[in-house]
Amino acid sequence: MLEAKIESALNDQIAMECTASFVYLAMANWCEQEGLGGCAQFLYLHSEEERNHMLKLIHYINSVDGKAVIPKVNVTKTSWEGIRALLEEVYEHEKKVTASIHEIVAISQELKDFRTQNFLQWYVDEQLEEETLVKDILDTVRLIGNGPQSLYYINKELEKRCNAQGEEAEA
Ligand code: FEO
Repeated sequence: MLEAKIESALNDQIAMECTASFVYLAMANWCEQEGLGGCAQFLYLHSEEERNHMLKLIHYINSVDGKAVIPKVNVTKTSWEGIRALLEEVYEHEKKVTASIHEIVAISQELKDFRTQNFLQWYVDEQLEEETLVKDILDTVRLIGNGPQSLYYINKELEKRCNAQGEEAEA
């Protein structure tokens, strides 16, 4: 049985992952409309990953006799100033998710809930991977700027990374 404090924190995390999934979906949609197919592909995949992060939490809470709550999400933003602004937002969001995961790990330690702590290790590792990936892309964008030629490069680069991720997942 989950203690109420950890159950509540995990449910908040479900809401966070669900929001991320919809925000990245909205971003992918915008990129697709802007003709940035590679960026769109990357963000659609990322949106799907966030949904899986949410599902993993739902299954975990329910499997340990807790009650997962399906959140209401309210994502209203539909367009971005440009790809740099969009990626800055993704990076900020990922940093918030990381902080939140670390906070739940601290709660699980405080409650001596080692099962949840062990479950959360996957998220700790995943967040490090995601933050590094987004920061890496963002550093490139900051370096080469937001102009049409760099946009072409970024779009191609994201398409490439997305395909590599897909191949890794299939292997
Ligand atoms: Fe599941 Fe990228 O946070």
